[in-house]
Amino acid sequence: MDKLDVKKIKADFPILNQKINDEKLIYLDNAATSQMPLVVEKQIEHFTNFDRANVHRGVHTLGLRATQKYENARQKVADFIGAKNASEIVFTSGCTDSLNLVAATYGEQNIQAGDEIVVSIMEHHSNFLPWQQIALRKNAKLKFIEIDANGRLDLEDAKSKITTKTKIVAITHVSNVLGTINPIAALTSLAHKNGAIVVVDGAQAVGHFPVNVTDLDADFYAFSGHKMFAPTGVGVLYGKKALLEQMPPYRFGGEMITNVTRKGATWAPVPQKFEAGTPNISGVIGVGAAIDYLGKLDLTLIQKHEDSLTAYALKELSKIDDLVVYGPKDCSNRTGVISFNLRKIHPHDLATALDLNGVEVRAGHHCAQPLMESLKTESTVRASFSIYNTKNDIDQLVSSIQEAKEFFGELR
Ligand code: ALA
Repeated sequence: MDKLDVKKIKADFPILNQKINDEKLIYLDNAATSQMPLVVEKQIEHFTNFDRANVHRGVHTLGLRATQKYENARQKVADFIGAKNASEIVFTSGCTDSLNLVAATYGEQNIQAGDEIVVSIMEHHSNFLPWQQIALRKNAKLKFIEIDANGRLDLEDAKSKITTKTKIVAITHVSNVLGTINPIAALTSLAHKNGAIVVVDGAQAVGHFPVNVTDLDADFYAFSGHKMFAPTGVGVLYGKKALLEQMPPYRFGGEMITNVTRKGATWAPVPQKFEAGTPNISGVIGVGAAIDYLGKLDLTLIQKHEDSLTAYALKELSKIDDLVVYGPKDCSNRTGVISFNLRKIHPHDLATALDLNGVEVRAGHHCAQPLMESLKTESTVRASFSIYNTKNDIDQLVSSIQEAKEFFGELR
């Protein structure tokens, strides 16, 4: 097969087969959350109905089965993102939690007054606020890598900002607003030459194209389950083993210790050191099932499909007068996350009008206010594509925008 069978894929997602406001649902908010295929739901259901027990505790059969499924999922994640070892995979409650974990442990331990932390201006607040807070608390300096007029990271600016004073570079793999794919390997090489580590927010990358953390030489790589066809409330933090081992625990409680006395405690080896309390077991099993599903579809075909939708959407949107697209207008090194505005219509009004036609998009600042400021807007409308979207969905988006334009035009 050299392309995705989208009709078959659509049938895997029953939620897509419904009407919204009497119109066929066109789901274009995949950057906020993707939908979950039936096979993932079935795996979770099977666990719940046949294997449910806590992990790493009981010696009884259900406990062993649950632990085996949980740890199998960890191995699947490691293989999926090219980690050298399953112990480099920590399960968290989501990408935000993963990034906060790194800031609260590695950041707390390694940032001193006068040090520098470098972020890009296109970070989601999740990969910005934890670093801003550390910088404020430790009297460290936060520096920003800017973007060019096309919404691409300015690599020359990165070269001038990342210096021997830099301790941490926090960078998104793909912008959740612009769709820009950042040159992570070039940045890790630059950061490592200067003695800094790199924390990558992979929330908008994983599930859209192949990601290999070893090739990228990322020190930490975070993502969420719910944006790659798994349930909400579960996420992943990849960390190089040597770094994870030297970091203090993030949370304290059950399952993260080796020994506890009246006077103190010693910590379990990684990754358990970072997984205090009962984890989201069914969610983790869902992540494993989503990886199996993605593996059957083939990520290079997924990328090809989404690239062709992006090219088509950019072409069609460019035909609408008064519509401005933020971010790269060409298709290389970008994904199917497209932000735009109609000059005279507020993004929330436009998104509401699109919803009346069954077209679901997001409007707002997308948790990226520093980027909004740099783009000189307060908010945008954002359409974001996934494996089940078609050119027909984009036609529907475009005609609904035209319709909204006429409607709001007549009101003036
Ligand atoms: N981070 C998600 C988004 O960009 C929620 O919509």
